[in-house]
Amino acid sequence: MSASPFHLAWFLSRGFGPKGWHHEWGGTDASQARWMMPDLFLDLARGMERACFDYLIIEDSCNVPYTYQGSHDAYLRQAAATPKLDPATLVPYLAMATKHLGIVPTLSASEYPPYLLARLVNSLDHLTEGRVGWNMVTGSNDGGAQNYGRDRHVPHDERYDRADEVAEIVTQLWESWEPDAIVLDRDNTVFADGSKVHPINYQGRYFSCRGPLTAPRSPQGRPVLCQAGGSPRGLRFASRWADTIIATAESVPEMKSQRELIRRHASEQGRDPDSIKVLFLADPIIDRSADSARERRRAEIAMAEGNIEFALAMMSTLTGIDFSQFPLDEPLPALTSNGHQSAAAKWAGRTPREVTRQRANRSGLDYTGTPDHVAGMMQEVMEEVGGDGFLLTFGDFTRRYVAEICDGLVPELQRRGLTKKGYSHRTFRENLMEF
Ligand SMILES: Cc1cc2nc3c(=O)[nH]c(=O)nc-3n(C[C@H](O)[C@H](O)[C@H](O)COP(=O)(O)O)c2cc1C
Repeated sequence: MSASPFHLAWFLSRGFGPKGWHHEWGGTDASQARWMMPDLFLDLARGMERACFDYLIIEDSCNVPYTYQGSHDAYLRQAAATPKLDPATLVPYLAMATKHLGIVPTLSASEYPPYLLARLVNSLDHLTEGRVGWNMVTGSNDGGAQNYGRDRHVPHDERYDRADEVAEIVTQLWESWEPDAIVLDRDNTVFADGSKVHPINYQGRYFSCRGPLTAPRSPQGRPVLCQAGGSPRGLRFASRWADTIIATAESVPEMKSQRELIRRHASEQGRDPDSIKVLFLADPIIDRSADSARERRRAEIAMAEGNIEFALAMMSTLTGIDFSQFPLDEPLPALTSNGHQSAAAKWAGRTPREVTRQRANRSGLDYTGTPDHVAGMMQEVMEEVGGDGFLLTFGDFTRRYVAEICDGLVPELQRRGLTKKGYSHRTFRENLMEF
């Protein structure tokens, strides 16, 4: 391993839903009709484990959106942010197909009551023998809130105040059984020692919870906490709780300054900045020649531009702003969002068409070319940024794409000593914190 290895993870964009359904390499009609079965995701997880990825994040949101044009029609027509199955149900399947990969379902702190969430993740950590994480999002649109009895979503910053309490309760519950509380003394009929199991008696502004949890401490004790939050309040939340932060940036200087900001926040909160792994989104396109890779990138961008409704619908659901109201080629005004504030702030002053084009190449950095070229680029970027790795993503990925990344790009990264060739530890947390 070189002096500066970095981590790899995969962001399963649009969650446990159909993938590549209108892509030329998207598989047979029969396999596409079975998108709600785990098959494709199992192939992805096995490929990732071959390539020694640290983890897979399964995105989620919990409504059929209707922000764009005030209707759900475009979302359903495009399979944009819908349909989706519950990501937690996929975890045991992926765990059975792998031995080391970390698996991170998204579970919204605005939707799950904290006890239910703590119990679910603790159960999954037991079942995966220490390989689960929690993507601790707060959700972003009113449609989601309306499925949980509220007219509107909680105001942006207050969502994070509530989420602080959720995280507080969840982590206390995870520790409510001491590690040696299970005695299993058959002779004296003692299964567990009551003096080692503790109510948490939490009283907050939004929640109260007695505890303890219904089950013993799980293999990781504290499953890996994952967060993304670009706004000032989001960043504070992430740097307080997260073990790994998933970040977007459009340039190397922006990546560097974001990581430095997160690390500074972490230090201010008394944490070791090295205990937070900041992973940046990247969407490589790999092929045997630079020309063929570039041609594929052009085709992807042309496809996105030819289907602008998809991008506008996605932008609308992320921000709660209906982007059908703006002319395509006029700069957007300053935008106020109760959803993804950092994204909305970046789009002001650009035209909707420019934003959709940039989103087609979502990292802003163009990881397109042969495995050698892209690996070299990733190396240079990480050397400049200082760490900690990449979160690979490709919205409409196919099995071909999985093989190109896991069996094409990653071997070159490994040859350069940039990513690991094996897993040294038993649990996801230990592997993530190794460097
Ligand atoms: C890579 C990445 C993945 C995300 N995944 C989800 C997700 O699965 N579900 C969700 O509700 N929000 C998701 N988010 C949104 C974040 O949790 C957060 O709401 C968003 O970044 C806006 O935060 P901000 O308002 O603090 O900027 C994701 C964000 C990023 C950058």
